[in-house]
Amino acid sequence: MVAASEAPLRLLVLAGDGIGPEVTEQALRVVESFAPHLGRPLEISHGLVGGASIEACDEAVSDAVVAQANGSDAVLFGAVGGERWDARPVGRRPESGIIRLRRDLDLFANLRPAVAYPELASASALRPELVDGLDIVVVRELTSGVYFGQPRGQETTADGARRAFDTQAYTDAEIVRVCRAAFQLALSRSRRVCSVDKANVMETGRLWRAVATEVGREFPDVELIHMYADNCAMQLIRQPKQFDVIVTDNLFGDVLSDAAAMLTGSLGMAPSASLGLPRPDGTTLGLYEPIHGSAPDISGQGVANPLAAILSFAMCLEHSFGRPDLAARLGAAVRGALSQGFRTPDIMSPGGRRVGTTEMTDAVLSALAA
Ligand code: IPM
Ligand code: MG
Repeated sequence: MVAASEAPLRLLVLAGDGIGPEVTEQALRVVESFAPHLGRPLEISHGLVGGASIEACDEAVSDAVVAQANGSDAVLFGAVGGERWDARPVGRRPESGIIRLRRDLDLFANLRPAVAYPELASASALRPELVDGLDIVVVRELTSGVYFGQPRGQETTADGARRAFDTQAYTDAEIVRVCRAAFQLALSRSRRVCSVDKANVMETGRLWRAVATEVGREFPDVELIHMYADNCAMQLIRQPKQFDVIVTDNLFGDVLSDAAAMLTGSLGMAPSASLGLPRPDGTTLGLYEPIHGSAPDISGQGVANPLAAILSFAMCLEHSFGRPDLAARLGAAVRGALSQGFRTPDIMSPGGRRVGTTEMTDAVLSALAA
């Protein structure tokens, strides 16, 4: 029998489409450099997702890959999507691969940090003093809401009009677990949660607010405020540093997390973690994904910023591999590369040292070695 500490950590790599494979390849160089320090053997396997999977088996993710992901400790995800598959119907596009993985692996808590690096203050569209020191996390519900609600569809009505409909629905249990994840996270930060909804117009919003308030009572040390989603979007631009942890539903979270990430200057810097409930052995399965997407316009040119993928692995070290110490080291190495002036085109500013995907990773690796 293998001792628990000897059991390998299983990492499934799903690189996907566009710049996904390029940035994932670089993140894997960083993964390899950490392998000897994990305290357990690391077992890396690869699978297909998105357009790459559609080409191979006509599905954006196969049952076999879902099963493999389920049997892993973590999934390192690249990006999905591209023009080639744009004409396909909604449920048959590359995006349905990631949507299915989220749902089938029950990865309900999506952590999307927005951290402003001082070195990149000038890359933000906001004045530097508004973003300097910014450190917020959007916790997005990821397995329910309008992304999954039934019924949904398109039809032609009796009078010949084309009509489309989606369903926004939440159960209390779905709201409870994601709110708990947000409050728990807030405990390790500045202990403030802002719950975001549209309780003024939506039934799901009313339930969301009621349940968030109930969960808040379990965490008397954490301050809870509520905000309407439109106001939250406005406040993120007006005064982003008022926030610590924002918790919200799937669709609002999709929109607000992009806005939050852009405050920091580049989507190319923004990592994410999608987490399930802790498993019986205490570990948490997570899917780690840069939020920038497949960026077909720059794919294949070697210029994509690998830092979001690398920082996503840092989140994996923290949440699935149980090594927050190594995550902190990796975060420091990324800051080291930035402070030495290395910049991919998306974060380039006057005086920066313009580099491509590989050189940026080289810079992180040498900061790690330093
Ligand atoms: C994201 C993306 C996805 C989403 C797409 C690719 C399906 O925008 O992860 O934010 O809408 O959730
Ligand atoms: Mg999105």
